[in-house]
Amino acid sequence: MGDKDKQKMILKSKIEESAGYIRKFLRGSPEIGIILGTGLGNLAAQIQEKIEIDYGQIPNFTVSTSIGHRGVLVAGKVSGRQVIAMEGRFHYYEGYTMQEVTYPVRVMKALGANTLIVSNAAGGMNPDYESGDLMIISDHINLMGDNPLRGPNDDSLGPRFPDMIEPYNDKLARLAESIAKQLKIKVHKGVYVGVAGPNLETRAEYRFLRNIGADAVGMSTVPEVIVAVHMGMKVLGISCITDECIPETLKPLDIEKVLAVAKKSEPVLSKLVMEVIKQM
Ligand code: HPA
Repeated sequence: MGDKDKQKMILKSKIEESAGYIRKFLRGSPEIGIILGTGLGNLAAQIQEKIEIDYGQIPNFTVSTSIGHRGVLVAGKVSGRQVIAMEGRFHYYEGYTMQEVTYPVRVMKALGANTLIVSNAAGGMNPDYESGDLMIISDHINLMGDNPLRGPNDDSLGPRFPDMIEPYNDKLARLAESIAKQLKIKVHKGVYVGVAGPNLETRAEYRFLRNIGADAVGMSTVPEVIVAVHMGMKVLGISCITDECIPETLKPLDIEKVLAVAKKSEPVLSKLVMEVIKQM
């Protein structure tokens, strides 16, 4: 066996080992995987009949170091459906590899999740967006300078050249949009650009990112979505706009403000996601 075949075998057996450990605690097979973004972790509080597993306990999992993130896998029921949620995600800027960042998505899929719901905090570049608004992600641009699929491909996990024609499931996005309307929740629909971070962008960069077609910018989500698409999962992505990134009127930003805005929007986001899960 060549080195590349060995690497593929190792990934597959690692995933199986992690999933096997988690499965022992579960009461059912999760249909939906959820990743909660910065300051948005409390959605997990809505999970019923829940069991919690610390990342540190799970073989092959990495530990979260980022502020606003707890590092617990929460499984249980939302609106009567089995879900598994990451409370605390891994960011590329923390120094993890793209493969480490996306590893939990592979495990969620191995546990049975065919849908991924992902949230994040993002800077709004579309002038119509206000801080505190929600944006349903219609598409993304990968400007992170790396790709989680780089390296040998295990064809049993997904294809070498996955299609990106509809990374965010259109039906789910439309369902979320119509539910938001029913619930009188203000939502936008737009393009998310993923950057490596950890610094915020310069004015020139915001201008550039807006000009290439992005409505919001953030430091996560893109790798997890690429891996979910690789494995054929359906994805719904929602950004919480935590700050306004208009070059001409840009103000200094501190992370506390980002967290505070996300925290304030959290109940609305939870309500929307719970209703989507109910109706999907
Ligand atoms: N840039 C990148 N990531 C972010 C921002 C931003 O302005 N706001 C929240 N996350």
